[in-house]
Amino acid sequence: MKSGVLKLPAFSLRLKLTLGYALVFILASVLGAVLIYLVASTQLTRSLDTTLEETAAVALGNIGREDGALRFAADLNVRSELALELLNGQGQVTAQVGEKEDLKLGLPQAGFQTVQDWRVYSVPLEGGGWLRVLRPTDLLSGLLETLARVLVGAALLMIVLSCLGGYLLADRALKPIDQVALAAASIARRGAYRERVPVAPGGDELTRLSTTVNAMLDRLEGTIEHEKSFTRMAAHELRTPLTTLAGRVELLLDRPRDVAAYRAGLVQLQERIGALRALSEGLLSLARTDAPPLLERVELAGTALGVAEDLRPEFRAAGKILYLDVEESWVQAEPEGVRQAAVNLLQNALKYGGPQVTVRVRPGELSVADGGPGPRQEDWPRLLHPLERGPGVQGISGSGLGLAVVAALARRWQAELRPEWSERGFTVTLHFPEGTG
Ligand SMILES: Nc1ncnc2c1ncn2[C@@H]1O[C@H](COP(=O)(O)OP(=O)(O)OP(=O)(O)O)[C@@H](O)[C@H]1O
Ligand SMILES: [Mg+2]
Repeated sequence: MKSGVLKLPAFSLRLKLTLGYALVFILASVLGAVLIYLVASTQLTRSLDTTLEETAAVALGNIGREDGALRFAADLNVRSELALELLNGQGQVTAQVGEKEDLKLGLPQAGFQTVQDWRVYSVPLEGGGWLRVLRPTDLLSGLLETLARVLVGAALLMIVLSCLGGYLLADRALKPIDQVALAAASIARRGAYRERVPVAPGGDELTRLSTTVNAMLDRLEGTIEHEKSFTRMAAHELRTPLTTLAGRVELLLDRPRDVAAYRAGLVQLQERIGALRALSEGLLSLARTDAPPLLERVELAGTALGVAEDLRPEFRAAGKILYLDVEESWVQAEPEGVRQAAVNLLQNALKYGGPQVTVRVRPGELSVADGGPGPRQEDWPRLLHPLERGPGVQGISGSGLGLAVVAALARRWQAELRPEWSERGFTVTLHFPEGTG
C-alpha cells in the first residue's frame, strides 16, 4: 500500500468549486446588467415618444392655412428642446417652430424614426401635408451611457466579489474533508488503528463520512485485535506441549537404556506428538473460520453417514454403539465445514457421552444425542470459547477447541448451536436457518 497520501492536492477541488460558484455569479450579474440596460433604454425611449405625441396633439389644434400653405398659430408655445415642422404633400417645409439641425430626413413616414441623434414623429394631416415633431436624443443617450458605465462597473465588482465569495464558500465546505483526510492519512502512516478521525458536527454528509471512516476503523481494530490474540493464544498453547516433548526426549537421552525402555519412551512421544498434531489442526480449523464463507447446498444426511462410517472403528474400540436416524435434508453451508462440525460433535459424544450415541438428521437440523449427562449448563457458554474445557476432563485427551470450531462454523452459516439436557441425556443440535436449502 502506498503511504504518500498525506500530501493533499491543495487546490484542485477548491479551484473547481470556486470557479463553479464564480461562473454562476458572473452569468447572473451579466444577465442582470443586460436586462436592466434593456428595460431602462425601452422605458426612456417610450417616455421621449410620449412627449413627442403629446406635443403633436397640442400642435394639431394650432394649425391653419394661409394662402393655401400650412401655418402654425402665432401663440403656439413649445418646449425649447423640441422643434416642429409643417410639410406640404411634396415634403417641403412650409412652417417651422424651434431650432433644429439640418437633417437628411427624406420623405415623411407616419410614426417614429431615429435620424442622426434626433427622434422624429411624423403625423399625416387631413387634406394633405405632414406635421413633424423632433427632439434630440443626446440627453437620452447620455443617460444610457452613464447607466451602461455604472452597470459594467457593478458587474466587474460582482465578478471580483463572487470569485472571492466562491473561494471562501469552497474553503469552508472542504476544510472538514481535509481534516478527515489528514487524520486518516496520519493513522495510515503510523498504523495507529486505535485512533479515530474527528467527527464533523452538524449531522450532514460530512458527519456521515467521518462516522463511516470511524466505523471502518472499529471493524479493522476488531479484526487486528482478534488476529493478535489468536496468534498469542496459539503460540502459548503450542509452547507447553513442545516444552514437555523436549523434556521427555532429553530424559530419554541422558543415559544409555535398553531397547524396551527406548520403545516405551518412543510410544509416549508418539502419543504427545499425536496430541500436538490434534491441537495444531484444531487451531488451523479455527483460523480458517475467519475467511469469508462460500456457501453452497449441502445434504446433511449423506454427510452424517460418511462421518459415522469414518468414526465407527473408534466407537467400536470404545465399546459404544453409534445409531443413525436420518432423513434427506438440504441446507446452505460448506461441505467440509459440516463434516468437521459432525466429527467434533461425535468425538465429544464418544469421549464424554454414554454407551449409545444417536446422530439424527431432520429437515434443517443435525443433532447428536449421547445419552450422557452433558457438561454443566452454566459452563456451556464458556465452553464455546477456544481452549476452554470442562472440569474433570484432565484424563481425557483434547485441547478445548472442538466446540469453539463448531460454534464459529455455525456463525458462518447463520446456523444455531443448541444444547439440550433431558432425562434421556445430552443432545447438541446444529439448527440451520429456515428455507436455506
Ligand atoms: N457431549 C459432551 N458431554 C459432556 N461434556 C462435554 C460434551 N461436549 C463437550 N463437553 C465439555 O466441553 C469441553 C469443551 O469441548 P471441546 O470439544 O471444545 O473440547 P475438547 O473435547 O476438550 O477438546 P478437542 O475437541 O479440542 O479435542 C470439553 O472439555 C468437555 O468438558
Ligand atoms: Mg471436543
